[in-house]
Order: sequence, then structure tokens, then C-alpha cells
Amino acid sequence: MTGTTGRTPTGGLPTGSGVEIFEAHYAGEPGAGWEIGRPQSALVRLARDGALRGRVLDVGCGSGDNALMIAEHGLETTGVDAAPSGIELARRKARERGLDVRFLVWDGTRLPELGERFDTVVDVGFFHCFAPDDRPALVRSLGAVVPTGGRYFLMCWSDREPGEWGPHRISESDIRTAFADGWRVDSLEPADLEVAFSPGTVRAWQAAMTRV
Ligand SMILES: C[S@@+](CC[C@H](N)C(=O)[O-])C[C@H]1O[C@@H](n2cnc3c(N)ncnc32)[C@H](O)[C@@H]1O
Repeated sequence: MTGTTGRTPTGGLPTGSGVEIFEAHYAGEPGAGWEIGRPQSALVRLARDGALRGRVLDVGCGSGDNALMIAEHGLETTGVDAAPSGIELARRKARERGLDVRFLVWDGTRLPELGERFDTVVDVGFFHCFAPDDRPALVRSLGAVVPTGGRYFLMCWSDREPGEWGPHRISESDIRTAFADGWRVDSLEPADLEVAFSPGTVRAWQAAMTRV
């Protein structure tokens, strides 16, 4: 079974990371607070600075704004997301903008089944969809497609963001624990993640990792 047919390797939506909720929003339900209609400014800065290199994977790419921006910088870009309606939106944007980006319906915890390698992975709001017990499988999946020296750039909600609704709040130690084996954490800093609701940003972490 292939992601290009619009199905996940499991033949349906994966469970546990809220994909059914994301899918409903991409299919038209209002209130998609993460959908800002443009790429994340912090990621744009990374692209402009030349930090993103080689074959790039946007994991949990949603409706594609970050992947499309990366492709505009001339990089070979693949976006994967388990929500078929998100991928449909992303493909439509790519067509409308005349951009050559490959968008696949794919479960981010089953990346090895793609049979490919990526020099750079970007993650905006994907890691924080996973509960602590599910993170080791996710990090193994990432590690299997990133060769030694490859980079992983992460943006996720922080435990400094008050309240309980929305994604998992991630602590600095959550990130260091999840990437303790097989990765070097190069930088891990408080950041603002842009969102589609007031006041326009939430407290986040921005991290850069290298596969070792
Ligand atoms: C908060 S949204 C962020 C989307 C996009 N990166 C952005 O910045 O707009 C999280 C995304 O992760 C996707 N996702 C959640 N679990 C997934 C899984 N197991 N495999 C692939 N994508 C998944 C959701 O469908 C959703 O599009």
C-alpha cells in the first residue's frame, strides 16, 4: 500500500495522536487554531539562514504551508500527514502555486516503511500530539529515516503555556529524554508558536537536533 494512493500504511487513521480531530477540521469544521494560513516565522528564518538542507521531510505537515515555503527555497520537499483532507488541501495549494512538493498521506510513526532517507526533518506541532508513552516509537520512526549528521527541527507547545486544552504541554526534559539516544540536542530555546487565535502566539519550544 502506498501513501500516494491517499491511504496510510494501516489503511485508516492512526489512533492516539488526535488525527480524527485534525481530519475533521481540514474537512471543514471551523476552529483549526493551528492553521495560520502562512508558514511559521521561526521556520522561515531557518530556511533563509540556510539551516534546512538536502532532502527535507515535513512530518505532520497539515495543509502544507511550511513544506511549500521550504520548497520555495529550492529544496526537494516531502510533506506527510495522516489526515487525508489536510494532504488534499496541501496538494491543491501546491498546484495553485505551481510548486513541485510531494505530499503523502502517511503515518509519521511508520516512516521507515517509506523506504527513504531525509537530510532534514521539520516538525511544527507534530511531536506534541503524542503522549509520553507514544514518543519513543515516534522518535524511533524519525531516527530510521534520518542518517547520521541529519537534522531535526522541532517546534512544540511548552509546559509554560497555561491551561490544559489543546496539545500535550512539553517540558525541556521531555524533549531531552525523548531524544537522549541517537540524537544530539544542539539547541533548545523558548519560542513563540504562531496560532490562529488571540493573542496570536503560544509559548513553545524550538529545538534543533542532529542524528548521531
Ligand atoms: C497541530 S497540526 C500541525 C500541522 C502543520 N505542521 C502546521 O504547522 O500547520 C498537527 C498535525 O499532525 C498530524 N498528525 C497527528 N498524528 C499524526 C500521525 N500519527 N502521522 C502523521 N500525521 C499526524 C495531524 O493530522 C495534524 O495535521
